Amino acid sequence: MKFATLGHLMIEKNIEQMPKEWVYDKWIYSPEMNLNGTKGHITGLKLTAKEMMSIPIEKVRQEILDLAVFIQDEFNVELIQLGALTTSVTSGGKWLVEQKEYNGFVNHGDSYTSAVTCQTVFKSLKKLEKNPGDLTLAIIGAYGIIGEAVSKILITQFKHSILIGRRENKLKELETKLKGSFETATDIKTKNADVIITATSHPTALLKSKHLKKNVIVIDVSQPPNLSYNLCQKRPDIFRVDGGFVDLPKQYPFQIPAIPKGKIFSCVAEVIMQAMEKEKQNHIGSIDIKHLKKTGEWGKKYKLTLNELTNFGIKIKSD
Ligand SMILES: NC(=O)c1ccc[n+]([C@@H]2O[C@H](COP(=O)([O-])OP(=O)(O)OC[C@H]3O[C@@H](n4cnc5c(N)ncnc54)[C@H](OP(=O)(O)O)[C@@H]3O)[C@@H](O)[C@H]2O)c1
Repeated sequence: MKFATLGHLMIEKNIEQMPKEWVYDKWIYSPEMNLNGTKGHITGLKLTAKEMMSIPIEKVRQEILDLAVFIQDEFNVELIQLGALTTSVTSGGKWLVEQKEYNGFVNHGDSYTSAVTCQTVFKSLKKLEKNPGDLTLAIIGAYGIIGEAVSKILITQFKHSILIGRRENKLKELETKLKGSFETATDIKTKNADVIITATSHPTALLKSKHLKKNVIVIDVSQPPNLSYNLCQKRPDIFRVDGGFVDLPKQYPFQIPAIPKGKIFSCVAEVIMQAMEKEKQNHIGSIDIKHLKKTGEWGKKYKLTLNELTNFGIKIKSD
């Protein structure tokens, strides 16, 4: 089953980090890559994260559809992974599946990302010898696809949780799906949180120093990141961890430009594993926790797992 990842630039500078032969007039696309017999392409729009979220949504969606149809027709791709903010602008992939011009399968890759996010939380706590039962968790973007799944899994493990989103009605809806000790907030109410997970479609850094308690742990899943490199430099007490990355075994020649060497986004890992499994299904919208658990098993089977914690791609010491 042939797959392709469909992403976009984070910032303008990324275009310079792409191999020149991948950059075409309208789009970016790699030659065919072969991973132990499973074939795929890395493709993307030339739009930056800020453009993805500011250009009228109909226009961005049309660009996504045009590229999806191109890779379907030119490269016989049957499965597309929606990378970064392409999920947010297509209602979790549901919009793309409804378009008659594209006939293949769609996976947002958020199931394995959510599984890996939870693993990252527990690995960080273990490293710092902390017990979640003593701690307050905050999840920013809590009713988003990843936010909802990690809320369902993590809230019962923590002493208390603060679920953050911009829309009151969506927070109310989320409340009905959860058990445990939690509150909701429409502002960035993270000052008392010991652990913060970011999973937002906000296209730039969102967290400021005033939002962060001393020695806070931040699992930054958002792409682009919601906690800036500069703030981490200014506040060395912050334990920031890249969320949503797994290690890429050497036998898979699938290095994505502009991301740390030897790493792969867990959403991309999910679609590679789905193609290897030849599973002809869509994985769009809200996450099915059974499928999330299955992606964890696939991760072990294909050795696409979280082995080391990193911060902006640098291994966190004594890990
Ligand atoms: N590392 C990885 O492998 C990986 C994989 C997949 C996704 N991601 C990243 O993870 C993030 C979430 O992805 P997703 O698919 O879960 O997206 P999603 O379903 O669109 O959820 C994003 C949520 O963020 C909320 N949000 C946006 N701006 C906010 C703000 N300023 N304050 C509070 N909430 C805000 C949105 O709320 P509204 O709906 O009200 O706007 C939405 O609920 C994205 O940054 C994506 O690029 C990373």
